[in-house]
Amino acid sequence: TRVAILISGRGSNMVSLIEAAKAPGYPAEIVLVLSNRPDAAGLAHARSVGITAHAIDHRAFPDRATFDAALDAELRAAGVELVCLAGFMRVFSAGFVEAWAGRMINIHPSLLPLFKGTHTHAQALAAGVRLHGCTVHYVVPELDAGPIVAQAAVPVRAGDDPDSLAARVIVQEHRLYPAALALVAGGGARLQGDRVVIEDDGA
Ligand code: GRF
Repeated sequence: TRVAILISGRGSNMVSLIEAAKAPGYPAEIVLVLSNRPDAAGLAHARSVGITAHAIDHRAFPDRATFDAALDAELRAAGVELVCLAGFMRVFSAGFVEAWAGRMINIHPSLLPLFKGTHTHAQALAAGVRLHGCTVHYVVPELDAGPIVAQAAVPVRAGDDPDSLAARVIVQEHRLYPAALALVAGGGARLQGDRVVIEDDGA
C-alpha cells in the first residue's frame, strides 16, 4: 500500500511510521511526506532517508478548498492509496475528506471520544481522569471523530503536568501508529459502516 504522511511540525510520529515501514513484510510503503508548513522539521528528516517530501504552504492559497485541491493533486500524482495524518494541524474541507473516505487515518493524543481538539493533556488533567492515551481513527468531516482503529492507554500520575503527561502518551503514539497502519494497510482492520472490524487470526 502506497502511503503519504501529512505533517505540520516535528514529525516524530512520521519517523515512527517510516522506521516501521522498513521492516520486511510491513504492508505499507511511505512514498510521500507533505507539510502545510515550510518550516516543519519532519520534512528534512524524510528527505534524509530518501522519501519525497515537500511543503504546500496553505498561506499561498486563497481558501481551504483550493489548498485541499492542491494536496489532492499531489497525492494522486504520487499514486497514494492511503493517507496518514501525523500532527497535521489543518482542518479539511468536507469534499477532500469525502474523496479520501476510508483511506485516511489520524492519530489523536487522547482516548477518543474524550478530549477532542487541542491541549488534550491539559483537558485530561482538568477532568481528573486516571487514564489517558491516544487513538488512531479514520478521518470523517467532524474533527477528531470517526471510526476507531486502535487505542493505547497510560496512567495519569500524581504531580503530572501537561508536559509530563504528553511525554508518557507520545511513547505510546510511536508504538500505536505503526501497529494501526499495519492493520489498515494489511487488511486486518476494515471499515464496516461507522465501525472498524478487526479481523481476528482465528485464536
Ligand atoms: C502528536 O501528539 C499527535 O498525536 C498530535 O500532534 C502531535 C504531533 O507530534 N496530533 P509529531 O509531529 O508527530 O511529533
